[in-house]
Amino acid sequence: MSNVNSLIEQAQAALKAFDLEKHNVEAHPSREAVERLRVSFLGRKGVVTELYGEMRTLSKDDRPAGGKALNDLKTRVESGIESLQQKVNEWQLQQQLLRKVDVSRPTEGDHSGSLHPVTLIRREVLDVFRRLGFAVYDGPEIEYEYYNFTALNTPDHHPARDMQDTFYLAEQAQLILRSHTSNIQIHGMMRDRPPLRVVAPGRVFRCDSDPTHTPQFHQIEAFVVDENISFAHLKGTIDHFLRALFGQEFKTRLRPSFFPFVEPGAEIDLYSPKAGWLEIGGCGMIHPNVFECVGYDSERLTGFAFGFGLDRMAMLKYGLRDLRQLFSGDRDFLGQFPARG
Ligand code: PHE
Repeated sequence: MSNVNSLIEQAQAALKAFDLEKHNVEAHPSREAVERLRVSFLGRKGVVTELYGEMRTLSKDDRPAGGKALNDLKTRVESGIESLQQKVNEWQLQQQLLRKVDVSRPTEGDHSGSLHPVTLIRREVLDVFRRLGFAVYDGPEIEYEYYNFTALNTPDHHPARDMQDTFYLAEQAQLILRSHTSNIQIHGMMRDRPPLRVVAPGRVFRCDSDPTHTPQFHQIEAFVVDENISFAHLKGTIDHFLRALFGQEFKTRLRPSFFPFVEPGAEIDLYSPKAGWLEIGGCGMIHPNVFECVGYDSERLTGFAFGFGLDRMAMLKYGLRDLRQLFSGDRDFLGQFPARG
């Protein structure tokens, strides 16, 4: 039969030993050191566990006192380990925060990046139009229905306003995400007086998603307003611009079509020897109602407008299969394009 006093003494000695070890670990903190300490005291063959084993050798009367000493020992070791674990976590965080980053250091290897294919196309398109004397305008992506539809001769009941096509932000405030860049025609004409030669790239939004449609895509709008502007100017400008971009072997074709804000209106198709005919935009002569809306004299002035999908043009130019590649953020895909346009 063992003596309870000797068990209590052993428990006290174990606690002293634990405090000493804990002190050491605090001086050289690491997760591994804390874990080793935990196992050596609380593990299956640990000091505390072995002392519990000795309880069997105590007399029935001595057991409560022995048990109390060992329970005390165990809770103190457990809370000691817990506070060590917390300290190690804090210490590691501090180390991370202290590790200073020198942003002025040159990077290793080639991290020059590349331009997105849509950016490349946009730059090329703008270059062509700048050489023709066009100014570059910008316009809002969050837009009032008025600028996106009403002022463009597209009244309330028109199917182009279908909720399925357009993202409505706040029906009360009549705010939407613009469904085309034609809103810039209205902003531009309201702000400036003719003669106008304007090109305007931007992001547009429609509730559409499949291999050839994405809910967000890019357009570029162009419009000219002056006296004596004719359909021949429209056709000549489109021909010149598409050939400058794609090469002389590309042909263009206009197909009669309807857009409320032009009359007459047409779809623009581009012929590439590889892909055949592909629809890439719409165009037409600016409707007199649009001129009336912005306070222009529709008797004196005429004008043309057209809008192109930049993403479609990027697909043609770079031979892409799926429009969604452009919005995937895939670095292997994007890395194939040059860093400069
Ligand atoms: N805004 C039209 C569209 O997105 C294209 C267009 C622009 C048509 C200008 C005519 C004139 O479909």
